[in-house]
Amino acid sequence: MDIKIELEESVAYLKEKGIGEVDVAIVLGTGLGGLVQHIEVHQEWSYSRIPHLPVATVEFHFGKLIYGKLGGKWVLAWQGRFHYYEGYTMEQVVKPIRISRLLGAKVLLISNAAGSLNRDMKKGSLMCLEDHINLLPENPLRGANLDFLGPRFPDMCKPYDASLSAKLFAIARQHEISLYTGTYVSVAGPQLETRAEYRYLRLIGADAVGMSTVPEVIAAAHMGMPCAAVSVLTDECNPENLAPFDVNEVLAVAESAEPSLTTLFSQLIKELEF
Ligand code: HPA
Repeated sequence: MDIKIELEESVAYLKEKGIGEVDVAIVLGTGLGGLVQHIEVHQEWSYSRIPHLPVATVEFHFGKLIYGKLGGKWVLAWQGRFHYYEGYTMEQVVKPIRISRLLGAKVLLISNAAGSLNRDMKKGSLMCLEDHINLLPENPLRGANLDFLGPRFPDMCKPYDASLSAKLFAIARQHEISLYTGTYVSVAGPQLETRAEYRYLRLIGADAVGMSTVPEVIAAAHMGMPCAAVSVLTDECNPENLAPFDVNEVLAVAESAEPSLTTLFSQLIKELEF
């Protein structure tokens, strides 16, 4: 089916079910769903109810869209994202971003769990994305350009909005949250990296590695949507001393960082002026 028609039908369904104004779209990554407890919920939908949206498969992702008020703004929170490694097409991966924009979202906030490649950035700390390297083998913009969304050759000179990031750093200082800045590299997964791959990723300039976010940011850039993204660094990818990956530990670390991330995002939303 035509992507434009699918998006229009998804948007029409959500409008009909009560979505009005939207200020901010938020994508909540692995183990980072706690922010939704701060939302004054007006409506929520399981992804399976929304036309043309795939159903989230990873067990620790809820697959729920929440619409409500946070910090005086109308927010659309996507609790659970679609990862490329789950088998979704890139077009499916970025659908929430496009639906959000078509519903009127002015800003996009993204969280994810990532491995730290930078020895100074310890497990459990947060990193605000300043830039990224895309190592995914596919791209949401490949194929005929969707002119109604954006240009054929979107600019990527500043994919992360500097003023949003500056606000995040000011909030982090006020609340004594340690927030690093760095470059995120996206890989396909689902396997973790080898020691040689971690060395390579560090060498090409990445501070953190993960399996998400970049397609969403590309889709946002295509539509001219300002965005900010924060990684919770859930494990240390030190090739000289690499511990086996423990998904439960990753989830536990993501959960322990949740209050800080929630403070950063909820304060930022409060401070936004539209
Ligand atoms: N590599 C890739 N993705 C990840 C990692 C990692 O080390 N940690 C959390 N997500």
